[in-house]
Amino acid sequence: MFIPDLLTFLDGTPVTTPAQWQKRRRELLSILEREEYGIRPAFTGCAQGTLQEIVSPCCAGHARHERLVISFDTPSGAFSFPLQFLYPADGHPHPLLLSLSFQSDVYNAYTPVEEIIDNGFALAHLCYTDVTSDDADMSSGLAGCYPRRDPATDWGKLSMWGFAASRAADYLATHPAVDPQNMAVIGHSRLGKAALLCGALDERFRFVLANNAGCGGDALEQTKHPGAETIAVMAEAFPFWFCGNRSKYAANPSHMPFDQHFLMAAIAPRFVAVCSAEQDTWADPYSQQLCCVAASPAWALHRLHGFVGPQEPATVPAEYAEGHIAYRIRDGVHFLSRKDWLYYMDFIRKHMAPQTQTCV
Ligand code: GCU
Repeated sequence: MFIPDLLTFLDGTPVTTPAQWQKRRRELLSILEREEYGIRPAFTGCAQGTLQEIVSPCCAGHARHERLVISFDTPSGAFSFPLQFLYPADGHPHPLLLSLSFQSDVYNAYTPVEEIIDNGFALAHLCYTDVTSDDADMSSGLAGCYPRRDPATDWGKLSMWGFAASRAADYLATHPAVDPQNMAVIGHSRLGKAALLCGALDERFRFVLANNAGCGGDALEQTKHPGAETIAVMAEAFPFWFCGNRSKYAANPSHMPFDQHFLMAAIAPRFVAVCSAEQDTWADPYSQQLCCVAASPAWALHRLHGFVGPQEPATVPAEYAEGHIAYRIRDGVHFLSRKDWLYYMDFIRKHMAPQTQTCV
């Protein structure tokens, strides 16, 4: 097995200092955009948030629930999508969990709203299909707002969902209930992949939380185990999540000039938390753990700990949250559970930046 080296520039020179890391990080991102996710259009403005409605009561009156619309300019004119935003009604800024979600209603089986609020977090909830449909249609929603130029490198849907999370962050970072130093983006499964890409590209997120992301997210392709999803399977089922170039590697992943540790490493020196489930063989827990191992040199370069844990398969249940890459494996199936949220909130509390903003 050959896993492409993180700390060598494309021209063969070694990356030896944190100062060089920013350049190498841009290289990694451009490889990932060109070969895997597609090239995200540049965005130079700042999205606007408009309050539509205050939903009350919320969490026994302890929280405020705002229905917002996020809007921004695109080459085809303004585009907007709804966002639900809930936060403790105590007049203070809070760490933010920006959730890319499958559900339109924030009150759903995957999101323990009251528990999040009671833990002192703000929660922004973005339903992914409000941004663009989860299929090959590139003519509607956000997909339809940008010209398609080259199927090999045009952006895929994972990138679009992540882009929308960044536009939500444009507005949320200015909201008095949000501590902009402590923003996290979170997603489960395909939205865990989108959250990883969003956080890799957008340095405003101090925390990136990937739940059961697996193939195309936080699982190394070149260590895949029997029963795991592969690029080949994905190229048939979900080609529209990626750019066309990715399918080139379906027959032979060992020809890839990258692997998923590039994506995780592009988050360095910030924080990333990964959660696997024992029965989620499709996502391949051990390849997820190995991805954490393989990404760690990017943190070591900064004299920080990446993943602090074993190289051999973790014994379930296990949590390794000492370093900047946290890895957890729990029993059970593919799901974003209440306990997963508790683990993510603990991780954030442990590594929060001191607040620089006070509420007026
Ligand atoms: C499918 C897909 C996975 C994805 C999952 C999901 O199982 O193969 O890659 O993570 O759907 O998003 O629920």
